[in-house]
Amino acid sequence: MNNAKSALPKLPYFAEDTSEAVVNSRMGENVNPRLRQVAEVLVKHLHAAVKEIEPTHEEWFAAIKFLTETGQMCNEWRQEYILLSDILGVSMLVDSINHRRPSGATPNTILGPFYVENAPKYELGHNICLDQKGEPLVVRGQVRDIAGRVIEGAKVDVWQTNDDGFYDVQQPGVQPEANLRGVFSTAADGTYWFKSVKPRFYPIPADGPVGKLLLNLGRHPNRAAHLHFIVSAPGYDTVITHIFTPDCPYLEEDAVFGVKQDLVADFKKIDDPIEAEAIGLNEPFWLVDWDFVLAPQKS
Ligand code: BEZ
Ligand code: FE
Repeated sequence: MNNAKSALPKLPYFAEDTSEAVVNSRMGENVNPRLRQVAEVLVKHLHAAVKEIEPTHEEWFAAIKFLTETGQMCNEWRQEYILLSDILGVSMLVDSINHRRPSGATPNTILGPFYVENAPKYELGHNICLDQKGEPLVVRGQVRDIAGRVIEGAKVDVWQTNDDGFYDVQQPGVQPEANLRGVFSTAADGTYWFKSVKPRFYPIPADGPVGKLLLNLGRHPNRAAHLHFIVSAPGYDTVITHIFTPDCPYLEEDAVFGVKQDLVADFKKIDDPIEAEAIGLNEPFWLVDWDFVLAPQKS
């Protein structure tokens, strides 16, 4: 079936009151239908915004300068446009639209820029904190499907900042390589566990145009304290998610809107030296019991 929409009647001359229709009528007949839809909607909303805002020329050029600087800030490891999308809530909106899961399944949240593929694979129980900083933490749980069946061999990929609020990739030569990241595989009963340190809040990279915008908007750049996870298994929808600490002052005002109620965990303080020794620690530690529930992959 040819679902290409025929072009709108051409309107030759630009006028303020018909601006959107004039621009959209210029599209040809053999335009990819999805591109046509996207272009028409964007032109419609952009023109409506400009008509509502009525920018001066100076304001318009300030906006162009902002977008130019945002592009100039991008390099191999810094993507300022994604950061802009994050602080405007667009990244979370796109994520929500694309990950509508059945009830009971673990929700997705933002991936962030600090994921590194092929992190070291560890045996269950390994300590991913290589710089000995921070309050010890044990995370343990089970990976199941929405019918309650345990998933053996599910991949649990975890990463987080160190106690100074930086990811290893932000501090090459300062932190050990692959500090606070690792990949675990669930046991026959679907369980996993590893040692780490309690995460703390940290600012998103704020030394560029997006940081300046946050400041001008009276917003802080902090992310609520979290551990990142990607949990995957064949036949299941991969979950990109976080666990948040319940006591973080930024829990309800995460700079990138990544917090979901269902992702806030209970962090229990364990002071018992016998329990600590049993898992190879010699000091009190935080304990989080956290299960991941995967939904079947959509065909
Ligand atoms: C992060 O959680 O790593 C992150 C997410 C969005 C922007 C910056 C950092
Ligand atoms: Fe993060």
